[in-house]
Amino acid sequence: MLRTHTCGELRIEHINQTVILCGWVQGVRNKGALIWIDLRDRYGITQITIESENTASEIVMLARELGREFVIKVSGKVSERYSKTDKLPTGEIEIYPQAIEILNRALTPPFTIEDETDGGDELRMKYRYLDLRRSEVRTKLQLRHQVAKATRSFLDTHDFIEVETPVLIKSTPEGARDFVVPSRMNQGQFYALPQSPQTFKQLLMVAGFDRYYQIVKCFRDEDLRADRQPEFTQIDCEMSFIEQEDILNMFEGLVKHLFQEVKNVVIEKLPRITYKEAMDNYGSDKPDTRFGMQFCYLKDENINVVDGKNFVVFDTAESVIAINVSGAASYTRKQLDELTEWVKDSKRGMGGLIYMRCENGTYKSSVDKFYASEDLQQWADCCHSKEGDLILVLSGKKTKVQKAMGDLRLLMGERLGLRDKNIFSPLWVIDFPLLEFNEEDGRYYAMHHPFTSPKPEDIALLESNPGAVRANAYDMVINGVEVGGGSIRIYNKELQSRMFDLLGFSKEEAQNQFGFLMSAFEFGAPPHGGLAFGFDRLCSLFGGSESIRDYIAFPKNNSGRDVMIDAPSVIDEKQLKELGIKI
Ligand code: AMO
Repeated sequence: MLRTHTCGELRIEHINQTVILCGWVQGVRNKGALIWIDLRDRYGITQITIESENTASEIVMLARELGREFVIKVSGKVSERYSKTDKLPTGEIEIYPQAIEILNRALTPPFTIEDETDGGDELRMKYRYLDLRRSEVRTKLQLRHQVAKATRSFLDTHDFIEVETPVLIKSTPEGARDFVVPSRMNQGQFYALPQSPQTFKQLLMVAGFDRYYQIVKCFRDEDLRADRQPEFTQIDCEMSFIEQEDILNMFEGLVKHLFQEVKNVVIEKLPRITYKEAMDNYGSDKPDTRFGMQFCYLKDENINVVDGKNFVVFDTAESVIAINVSGAASYTRKQLDELTEWVKDSKRGMGGLIYMRCENGTYKSSVDKFYASEDLQQWADCCHSKEGDLILVLSGKKTKVQKAMGDLRLLMGERLGLRDKNIFSPLWVIDFPLLEFNEEDGRYYAMHHPFTSPKPEDIALLESNPGAVRANAYDMVINGVEVGGGSIRIYNKELQSRMFDLLGFSKEEAQNQFGFLMSAFEFGAPPHGGLAFGFDRLCSLFGGSESIRDYIAFPKNNSGRDVMIDAPSVIDEKQLKELGIKI
């Protein structure tokens, strides 16, 4: 070893010991008679103090030559620090060097490598290896390591075997676009990178592995957002001879274990709500349940307290949905106008926003012209409003209003400070529809994936009313983030081919793409099911960050580029020719 200790290790009990430290120069302060060097490594920072008068002149000269991020080796004596600080764990000691060696010089870094940095996002991405020297960034990856370790330990205790599945495969139908890799040996043909190891883990169940897991890279060519990267990691799991209940219990156990180990937080039994309840009450299949503000229906199939007052907008609407925002009656006209513009923008596409204030014992709405006080009383009753509350109302086509109101609910929750990142509210969303209809293509798509089993009691509806068939599929949601999802699988060849029929695959297409799986189902496939957690999402949630990028060592930017290695990039003619590709 080049060193005896790390830069985070020395304490008052080490005084008078001669030690050797190695690390990076975080900074040098030169006051002439005294020179201080902050020496940094992964473990911390230690102060090196040089009294010019009492130190060999070659050490003083060398210290004056040091620049930021030089790599040095210092040997010297640990002393009690003259001016102690509790800002550093090593703040009670300093080192008086007997020798300093420059192990490597460094150019001036393009941004300061300290907790508070002056580097912008792009610059820090370009020099990610320098950004990773900052403790704030490094601790995020240490947290990731801890989550992985706790995951492996839990799954190992429960008899799961980690198996690696291939990366050069045939496309897996998870609904996103594939990344493809040309084959040199089979010109004109392509591998796909896995969107998930879905079919392989099912084959491992046919192979009798019984319990499988893998912390595995997945690849999806989709538009990027804060919680999406083109390559991301899943904790992918599958079990045999189980029912949905067993999967929910097992992986609820895993998440409780992770919270306990990583955050020291005890999680109670996870509530379960159906997809329909989630959409009806929160307008989202991944509701943020850290706060209430559930939807109140003023007009729907079973209720109508708005029609017949000559307000055409509500009279002609399929649904009128409100939320009660506690204590927000003081919202100004300007703030309400701004909210109105927000719901009208292209993302939400609402015609407008109606509001009602419950203030000074009366109700004042933006549609007072149509609704008398006793009408508004009915609104307040529906919404359980109290003095000081604000009711916000949207109307139109039900699914569209639910979606827009879901967004507005989140915005108001944010504004009222109800989305505290230190509070965790996990739940299961169950009973997803098996299929979703795509208006543009005029056909059904699998909501989860084509291997998901319909609920046995709904199988009869498969051909007559496919949209009403519910699946044995579930998502785990924490604080409005879908952290994981899975399903009980179809393990019967006939049912699987009925599914492919429904999804519009011809017999040949189904055989071509999934023949291997259908054949496997003929050789004794056990009942099985599983799920996958978004590992990066779990880590960012534990770390209290919105963006998963911070928890990935070398992430891509918003245009899918790695700006550090400059990828993707063009390849040369020769390579293209070998692959038989003409551009
Ligand atoms: P699904 O497609 O729901 O299921 O993915 C599982 C989990 O992976 C995470 N995730 C992502 N994280 C970061 N960036 C992305 N682009 C991204 N896409 C998905 C989410 C999601 O809940 N094979 C099935 C699982 C199964 O049925 O067992 C699957 O992949 O947190």
